[in-house]
Amino acid sequence: MSAIGQPLDRVDGLLKVTGQARYAGEFAEDGLLHGSVVSSNIAKGRVIRIDASKALALPGVVMVLDHLNRPKLASYDDSYADADAADGSPFRPLYNDRVLYSGQPLALVIADNLELARHAGSLVQIEYAAEPAETDLLALQGQAHLSPQTPPTPRGNFQAEWTGAATRLDLHYSTPIEHHNPMEPHASTVLYQPDGTLHIHDKTQGPQNCQAYVQKVFGLDKSQVRIFAAFVGGAFGSGLRPQYQLPLAVMASLALKRSVRVTLTRQQMFTFGYRPRTLQRLQLGAAANGRLLALGHTAIGQTSRFEDFSEHVVEWSGMLYHCDNVQLTYKLVPLDVFTPLDVRAPGAALGVVGLECAMDELACALGIDPVQLRLINYAERNQNEDKPWSSKALRECYSEGAERFGWSQRNPEPRSMRDGRQLIGWGMAGGVWEALQMKASAKARIDHLGKLTVSSATTDIGTGTYTVMAQIAAQASGVPVGDVTFLLGDSSLPTAPLQGGSFTVSSVGSAVQQACEALNATLLDIARRTYPAFKDAESARFENGQLHAGDQHISLAQLVQDSGEQALEVQVDCEPGKQREGYACATHSAVFVEVRVDEDLGTIKVSRVVSAIAAGRVVNPKMARSQILGGVVWGIGMALHEETQIDHQLGRYMNHSLAEYHIPVNADIGEIDVLFVEERDEIVNALGSKGVGEIGIVGVAAAVANAVYHATGKRVRDFPVTLDKVF
Ligand code: MOS
Repeated sequence: MSAIGQPLDRVDGLLKVTGQARYAGEFAEDGLLHGSVVSSNIAKGRVIRIDASKALALPGVVMVLDHLNRPKLASYDDSYADADAADGSPFRPLYNDRVLYSGQPLALVIADNLELARHAGSLVQIEYAAEPAETDLLALQGQAHLSPQTPPTPRGNFQAEWTGAATRLDLHYSTPIEHHNPMEPHASTVLYQPDGTLHIHDKTQGPQNCQAYVQKVFGLDKSQVRIFAAFVGGAFGSGLRPQYQLPLAVMASLALKRSVRVTLTRQQMFTFGYRPRTLQRLQLGAAANGRLLALGHTAIGQTSRFEDFSEHVVEWSGMLYHCDNVQLTYKLVPLDVFTPLDVRAPGAALGVVGLECAMDELACALGIDPVQLRLINYAERNQNEDKPWSSKALRECYSEGAERFGWSQRNPEPRSMRDGRQLIGWGMAGGVWEALQMKASAKARIDHLGKLTVSSATTDIGTGTYTVMAQIAAQASGVPVGDVTFLLGDSSLPTAPLQGGSFTVSSVGSAVQQACEALNATLLDIARRTYPAFKDAESARFENGQLHAGDQHISLAQLVQDSGEQALEVQVDCEPGKQREGYACATHSAVFVEVRVDEDLGTIKVSRVVSAIAAGRVVNPKMARSQILGGVVWGIGMALHEETQIDHQLGRYMNHSLAEYHIPVNADIGEIDVLFVEERDEIVNALGSKGVGEIGIVGVAAAVANAVYHATGKRVRDFPVTLDKVF
C-alpha cells in the first residue's frame, strides 16, 4: 500500500495531547533563571536613565541588563543578516539609548522565578526624552518610496489601454496591521552547559538560522551553539527571524554563566513583526465581452525606519489572469514602528484581496458571472515570467468548487436572496501561491532491526512535517511507516531551509526521498554481493521492509546485518530540479463563501465555505485539509475581525491582547468544505507535490467581502468588513 496519500494521524499527536511534547519555554533545569523584558512605552526618543535599584533590591533578583551594562558583543555594531532579513539594518535589542518603536525591549530583569522577574520589571523606572512619532500610513502615504524589491516591469501599454477601455474601474482598498498570534508565545531557554557551550530551546521556524545568528552576534564557534525546536506551537511566519528574546536570553546566560529562560508575554507578542497595513489601488479596463485589456495594481505598505520590509503584494495581479497591458507598483512608507514580517501567504494574502474584490466589481459592472469572468481571462501562461505552468488545475477548482457549493443556484442580483431577516450573500474569489523548492539535505539511517531514521534540520510548526516526512520516507524506502522515525528541530541535523513559504514538502521532502533511494541502492548492492539469487536481479523492489526480486525476498534488517555494521546511513544534498527552470510553478484555489447578514443588526456570519485547491499530489489528505481549514478560518478573520489598531497620538497599539484583538472563535465558523482537485505535476519535483501551508488563506477575505456585497449591495473596501461599515 502506498504510504503517500494516506490520511495518517499525526505521528506526534499522542505526545502533544498528553503534554509530553515540550515547547521552547517548557524546558526546566535546577537553578534555571527567568528573564522578563521591560518594554518601552514611548514610540520614539531616547532613554535618559534606567533606574533598576528597586528591582535589584528584591531578594532573588539577579541582574537587570540594559544598553549600558549588557555584555560587549562581537558583531552587534556591524550589519548581520539572518535568512529572512529585510533590507536595511536589523533591530538590535539593548543596542543603545535610542527608542525606535513602542514596545521596544529596553531592559531584561533576571530573577530566580518568572513571577519575581515580572514583578521586578514593573519596578524598573525609565526616564525618556520623547520625540514626536509618526505611525499612520494613511497620513504619510505621500512619502512612499519604491520598494527595493521591485515587481515585474510593466508590459504592453497600460495607461493607453486603461484610458480607452469600454469599462474602466479605479478602486481603492485598504488592509490593516495584523499579528500572527500563535498559541505559543516566543520563548528561548538557554541551557548553559558545563563546558560553556549553549544548548538553546527556541521558538523558531529555522534552528540553523538562529544558530548562525547567535554565533555571529556573540562571536561564538558553531560548535558552541546548538539550537533545538522539536515542537513549535504555531508560528505562521513569526518564527522566520530570530526574535529578540533569543539574544536577550543568550546575553544573560553568557554574562552569568547560568541557564536562563526568557518568555514573552502575550502583549509582548505584539512587539515585533506583523502583517503590514496596505493601501491598494486597482485599475481594471475591460472590453464588453469581459476580456481584461488593462490591469494596474499599486500597493503601498508600511515599514520601519530601519528596514525596508518587502513582500510580493502586486505580483499576483500580473499572473492570475491573462492581460497584455499590466503595470504593477509597490511602495513603502517608513514609520516609527517595528519592521513587518512574513505572515502566512505574505503579500498574496494582501494583494489578492485587492485583485479579487476588484474582479468581483468588474463582474458586476459587466453583468458577467464572477466565475465566468475568471474563465474568460484564464491565464494559460505566467505572463510575469513568460513561462508555461508546470501544471495548473485552476479550471477544475472553479468547476468542482462551484458544483460542490451550488453556485449555479445563485441569483446575481444583490439583496435578492434572504432567509427571514437574514440577507444571504454568495461570493467567490481565486487564489494563487508560489510552489518553490529550496535546496535541502537529509540523512537516512537503517539499523540491524530494519528501523529507519531520517533526519533534517527543518521544523514542524503544526503543519504535520513529522508525519508527512515519515510517509515520504516510508514510500521511498519500502519500510513500513510504523518503523520510520523522522527527526527535526535540531541545528546539528543535515541542512534545511526555514520552514516557510509552503516549500518544506517540496524541499525537505525531496531530500528525504533521495536519501531513502540512495540508502536502498546501498542495500541492493549488499544483496547482490551476498546472495546469488539477487545477483542479476533486474526488477528489485522495496516493500514492507523487504527487498523483492522475482519470487525472492529478504528483509532489510538482514541486509544490514550482512553488511557487518550496526546500521547503514547515507546523507544527500538535494537541489531544486533543473527541469523547473523553463516553467512557472504555483498552487491555485477557488473559494466560495456564503454569508448571512442580519438586516437589523448588520452582523455578518460566514455560514459556508467551499475551498477547492490545486496543489499537486497531496501527501496526507488529513494534514493537508487541516492546513486549508486553518487558512480559511484565518481568511475569515482577515475579512471580518482582525485589525491591530494604533493610537497615533501615542504611536502605540491599543488592542495588543487576545481580549481585544479579534479573531474568529468556534461560534464564528460555519461549514468549511475542502476539496483537492486532481493535479499531476512531473516538473515541480519528483514527488509531484506543491505544498499547502499558505494557499488556504489566499482569496478567502475577498470572497467574504464579495459575498457581503452580494448580500447587502454594500461594498466595503476598507478591511476588516465590520458591521459599522456595512451599515
Ligand atoms: Mo510562512 S509566512 O512562510 O512561515
